[in-house]
Amino acid sequence: MMKRVVISIALVLVLAAMPASLLAQGDDEFETYTSEDGLFSVDYPAGWFSNVDEEAPFPFVIFLNSEAALQRLDAGEDLASGDQGLLVIVLPTDFLVFFGVTLAEDATPAEVAETIATMVFAPEGATDDTGDTSEQVKFSEFEEVELGEDLVGGFGTAISQKEEAAITIFTPGEGLVAIVYTAAFTGELTDDLKALSQSAAASLAYDGTGEDLMNAIMGGAIEDTPEGSTSESLDGAALVAERCTTCHTAERIDRASKDEAGWAATVDRMIGYGAQLNSAEREAVIAYLSSR
Ligand code: HEC
Repeated sequence: MMKRVVISIALVLVLAAMPASLLAQGDDEFETYTSEDGLFSVDYPAGWFSNVDEEAPFPFVIFLNSEAALQRLDAGEDLASGDQGLLVIVLPTDFLVFFGVTLAEDATPAEVAETIATMVFAPEGATDDTGDTSEQVKFSEFEEVELGEDLVGGFGTAISQKEEAAITIFTPGEGLVAIVYTAAFTGELTDDLKALSQSAAASLAYDGTGEDLMNAIMGGAIEDTPEGSTSESLDGAALVAERCTTCHTAERIDRASKDEAGWAATVDRMIGYGAQLNSAEREAVIAYLSSR
């Protein structure tokens, strides 16, 4: 009994001391960036310089530890010795299809993070024809990290000939994925930078939904498709097999069951994403899908 009391007193002391020590290093060491629409915010090291991509239809911001590093970034150059950077992106999970990422439904946060990191940062065969391996990236194993109460992410590191990075990936809300990436010149990734990837991730907030972001991204992609042949002569099944499987597999289509109006809405959304169908082909595809 006595022992138990002592342990709980020790615990109370530890817990009481914790917020104080967090506060002691907080505040003047970090600043909070908030997006213009107020939906997105993240903490970054005080005094760092930010580069916000205003054109991006999703939260996309980079912070660098010096103005010189910022200029190198603007000029499209690689990081130099001494540079440190923090990159934060929030994307709709559905958008990952375009990187060729498909996530198993029962994947753990570490597996999700590893899948996304390896697809987004190192597309397969990232070597050029001359066998140049300078773009090749080696990843660590990804592990689970606790980012807050009930919030778990995946964390790992990546190293190439140009830079070394710490990557934290997690789900900040329904249908969303956040990528928080800190980087330095190869060989200069410090423990502080690794910790920054996780603490920035833990501070991140996004109040929008994955669906809104997806619409914002895809809204810009709607194109006119050429008018052409008539629907009678068109084979809906062949069109689906040919034009509907460039971004995802046929399985995704086979799994869905909809009426004609439902398929019309889906097919139009896919055309918005970039599916290539003129109006006659669109009719043929809708007719085929709703007749199955
Ligand atoms: C340019 C890429 C692209 C092409 C081409 C494409 N899709 Fe999709 N598809 C997506 C994306 C992204 C999603 C996930 C987001 C969503 O559901 O809006 C998706 C999801 C789906 C879904 C699951 C969601 C639902 O509403 O049931 C179905 C079914 C589907 N697509 C059918 C089709 C059909 C049919 C075609 C051909 C007309 C097609 N796709 C062509 C990108 C594409």
